[in-house]
Amino acid sequence: MYKYPLIIFEGVEGSGKTTQIKNVKSYLRKNRIKFISLREPGGSKLAEKIRKLILNPKSNFHPFTDLLLYIAARNENVNSIIKKHYKKRVILIDRFIYSTLAYQHYGMNLNLNIINKLNNFILGNIKPDLIFLHTVNILELKKRIQKRKEKNRYDKFDINFYDKVQKGYIKMLKRKKNVTIIDTKKTIRENKFEILKKINKIF
Ligand code: TMP
Repeated sequence: MYKYPLIIFEGVEGSGKTTQIKNVKSYLRKNRIKFISLREPGGSKLAEKIRKLILNPKSNFHPFTDLLLYIAARNENVNSIIKKHYKKRVILIDRFIYSTLAYQHYGMNLNLNIINKLNNFILGNIKPDLIFLHTVNILELKKRIQKRKEKNRYDKFDINFYDKVQKGYIKMLKRKKNVTIIDTKKTIRENKFEILKKINKIF
């Protein structure tokens, strides 16, 4: 039994992660459970600066440069925030290591071993306890992305790209024990209860 789990929320754009993170945060607040909440890329002050640089529609980095920037932002979070709170508070993260594998390897064909090595080197003994993978029908996703008012650089890919990314996520995570797949076909409320049930089991 681990009292303060590291919980990560993964999935493509428009898959409902952010709404569910809000629900978990209000549940933890209500129950007076100490937590911190981060997003990637971003989180710490410096990592947020890196986020702006990567996602600015004017940035035209080479895909490998993007990879190094995502990893750099994660390294900032791990060293300045996560290590300090690991197992002392619940840590919620909107995207983590599997985003890099899904987007940079499955989406952009960058080398899987390099990504794994970089992630492992940064994380050391830190391991996610629970992973919620949010999935969405790809046509529904197209609609959701089109509706976004402010589009960042990673909101502008062809729909096939997100399809590859989502398939990559499913391939990587579907057999892992600590993963729950949250399908947007179900209602937000149903998904909320499924997520809270899993989290409750840990406490
Ligand atoms: P979001 O905060 O709206 O989810 O946008 C972040 C974007 O960055 C999203 O398209 C996924 C992408 N991303 C990667 O490509 N690799 C990564 O390692 C991370 C954390 C995010």
